[in-house]
Amino acid sequence: MPNFLIIIVLYTFFTVMEKSVAVLVLIVLMLNGALFLFFFNSSDGTGNVSFAHSGPAFPCDVRAGLSSFPFCSPSLTVGDRVKDLIGRLTLQEKVQQLVNAASAVPRLGIPAYNWRSEALHGVSNAGPGTRFGGRVPGATSFPQVILTAASFNASLWEAIGQVVSTEARAMHNVGLAGLTFWSPNVNIFRDPRWGRGQETPGEDPVLTAKYASSYVRGLQDTDGSDSNRLKVASCCKHYTAYDLDNWNGVQSDTFDAKVTLQDLEDTFNPPFKSCVLDGNVASVMCSYNKVNGVPTCADKDLLRGTIRGEWKLNGYIVSDCDSVDVLYNSQHYASTPEDAVADVIKAGLDLDCGSFLGKYTESAVKAGKVDESLLDQALVNTFTTLMRLGWFDGDPANQPYGNLGPKDVCTEKHQELALDAARQGIVLLKNDGTLPLAANKISSLAVVGPNANATKVMIGDYEGIPCKYTTPLQGLSAYSSILYAPGCANVACAGNGFLGAAVKAATEADATVLIVGGDQTLETEGRDRISLLLPGQQQQLVSEVANASKGPVVLVIMSGGPCDISFAKDEDKIAGIIWVGYPGQAGGIAIADVIFGRYNPGWQLMHVPAFVLSGGRLPMTWYPQEFVKIPMINMNMRPDPATGYPGRTYRFYTGKTVYMFGDGLSYTSFKYTLVQAPKLVSLPMDDKLAFAQKKSNFSCETVQITQINCQKLQMDVQVDVNNVGPRDGSHVIFLFSTPPPKHHSPKKQLLGFHKVHITSGARERVHFNVDVCKDLSIVDKAGNRNLPVGSHLFRIGDLQHSLSVQITN
Ligand SMILES: *[C@@H]1O[C@H](CO)[C@@H](O)[C@H](O)[C@H]1NC(C)=O
Ligand SMILES: *[C@@H]1O[C@H](CO)[C@@H](O)[C@H](O)[C@H]1NC(C)=O
Ligand SMILES: *[C@@H]1O[C@H](CO)[C@@H](O)[C@H](O)[C@H]1NC(C)=O
Ligand SMILES: *[C@@H]1O[C@H](CO)[C@@H](O)[C@H](O)[C@H]1NC(C)=O
Repeated sequence: MPNFLIIIVLYTFFTVMEKSVAVLVLIVLMLNGALFLFFFNSSDGTGNVSFAHSGPAFPCDVRAGLSSFPFCSPSLTVGDRVKDLIGRLTLQEKVQQLVNAASAVPRLGIPAYNWRSEALHGVSNAGPGTRFGGRVPGATSFPQVILTAASFNASLWEAIGQVVSTEARAMHNVGLAGLTFWSPNVNIFRDPRWGRGQETPGEDPVLTAKYASSYVRGLQDTDGSDSNRLKVASCCKHYTAYDLDNWNGVQSDTFDAKVTLQDLEDTFNPPFKSCVLDGNVASVMCSYNKVNGVPTCADKDLLRGTIRGEWKLNGYIVSDCDSVDVLYNSQHYASTPEDAVADVIKAGLDLDCGSFLGKYTESAVKAGKVDESLLDQALVNTFTTLMRLGWFDGDPANQPYGNLGPKDVCTEKHQELALDAARQGIVLLKNDGTLPLAANKISSLAVVGPNANATKVMIGDYEGIPCKYTTPLQGLSAYSSILYAPGCANVACAGNGFLGAAVKAATEADATVLIVGGDQTLETEGRDRISLLLPGQQQQLVSEVANASKGPVVLVIMSGGPCDISFAKDEDKIAGIIWVGYPGQAGGIAIADVIFGRYNPGWQLMHVPAFVLSGGRLPMTWYPQEFVKIPMINMNMRPDPATGYPGRTYRFYTGKTVYMFGDGLSYTSFKYTLVQAPKLVSLPMDDKLAFAQKKSNFSCETVQITQINCQKLQMDVQVDVNNVGPRDGSHVIFLFSTPPPKHHSPKKQLLGFHKVHITSGARERVHFNVDVCKDLSIVDKAGNRNLPVGSHLFRIGDLQHSLSVQITN
């Protein structure tokens, strides 16, 4: 029966008082009905919440009668549409399009647009462009990037990107998300203390470059018929040499990173280059810090020179949030706000995350400090990106991806991928043979530690709201009955009031799993660690529980950055050590599956094959605690024997390590056989080369790669990998090289990696394509790439192979 009939029937029995209440109720019901109708009759059929406020939710809306402008016409070229649009804007309107919270232009039917959305490891609400609620309460939350990187599986990275952009588009279609996502973070994890190291793919430029281009390709998903069309626009950040947040009073936003041209070329910039050239990313973000005295967002060489000139970015350059304000107000880089505007616009910045350009650009133009045509250039870059996203094509429901909606967020398949990503990344660091635990022999399991029942801790920073959590405790309880004792109140682990119960549980159970580590109170944006040891009294907790334990002890480290856990590495009572990063919404299942070495069919998830350890490897060096005496502000990658500075990352660091880049054990074992690898590369001494050598006083030791015909110099290195162990397993095979020691070259550098799944007893042939100029070159002090003549030593596990680079007549 309709509401109004019920009310009319009841109305006759009401008192005056009740009648007035009833009238109110009726009015509220009618209003609700009207809103309800308005809400669900929107033409996209998805209940777009943006319709609740005035004005269209998207440009070029047919119903609003605002679709006849040429810029709305998909039959014109993007270039013509952008030109038409910019031609219609006044100076004041242009200026308000230079900031992330871009204003509406009602007379052209253009609504406000917030450029800032984030999707580092799942759709996030860290940016104002995206929010959860209503029909999309959460999204699939993948492991924090450092763990996903540890999988060394490029197809996984791309697959995650595709799922994230599907959920992002689905949310966009119901008015909950933008189309421009400022992810991934591809800075090099240069110092183990960095609070944002967790967001990155680790310390190696080749790994980071591969992660970057794979994730970007997945997010932008341009593989369809029109390669210019974007599913969402990705952004590689923070360009460049940004990897310090807050150390000893030095803050990221005022830090002047002193970086050599050599380190810039062979460490800090390769991931950005790969984003643009291999990933075809639609945006790059400049950072807060200065590089050699110049704020990156005001550095013409870095922006106009390198990103746009050399790499030919097809997209826009955005500032980090408030970094234009910072360069004026905190770095005092310019003498007036208008000069600051001129500096960044002239350098090649297209969009300000912040409000600075919105406030001062008009006066900068009027004062003649910056030409309006430069604003137009910036707008070409931003509007072109929006055109590629279909933003000016009218109703999103009628576009590619228009069918996506809330039903496509947190699907079972997406959540399984989040689980699989965690399992693929988890790294086994120590195993005395006890792991995997045999579930049929463990009838009770002590589960101890401040992260044993972690929820939000598992998803790290730049997170969203996950579909759901499965905690380690919940994951492990599928395999055994549990004696749970947190051991500490929280990760800070200040007191030992909880110790007794933890010791007791360990003495009673058949085995003990300790889950310790960090959380966002210890490492995150704005917060670098000061110690590499386990926080507070966690080490004491681990030692005492291990000592008291009746059965074998497994130590699980949940952290973004590396920890000095030498004490546990050397402790016989600790049978196994596992690093799980921040493993995402399904982390607890993955941890349990790795510890028990199998997939538990008790989890209500389909399509998952019988589980084996997926062979994650460390994407960063684990340094000993003594490393913290090295100033975090020393950006040099190379060691300096004169000062005792040890250098950074496996490529250069000369000191002791707790674990090394690439470390990670398996539940099975593999043998390598070299099938094919060239022994000699000859560079023909042609006239051009001879001339170039003469000109540069060539020493017969290195040749600049600009002087070599690189195209023909491709090599195929082939290796057979045999699974000679008792179990099926996935395995990462690395190809490293040690170049001749010229120009302070790296002692070892990664040329490539592949992940293969091999069943027990089977063999797989792996091909590495080595590009001689790109992969074997080293960088000199001036930042130029040179090919060193002499012996390059290849290493594949224990295999070694020498390749000789020669010049022939
Ligand atoms: C573990 O965490 C979950 C999720 O927060 C909670 O529901 C559960 O009660 C916790 N278990 C224990 C034993 O504290
Ligand atoms: C280890 O346990 C034994 C008794 O089981 C005790 O005597 C010893 O003090 C303990 N050691 C530590 C480091 O807790
Ligand atoms: C080459 O060597 C000569 C003589 O030693 C020197 O004058 C000249 O500047 C050098 N050229 C270059 C390009 O280094
Ligand atoms: C890499 O990840 C993809 C996507 O999850 C998965 O299908 C594949 O099996 C993984 N490869 C290996 C060798 O584990």
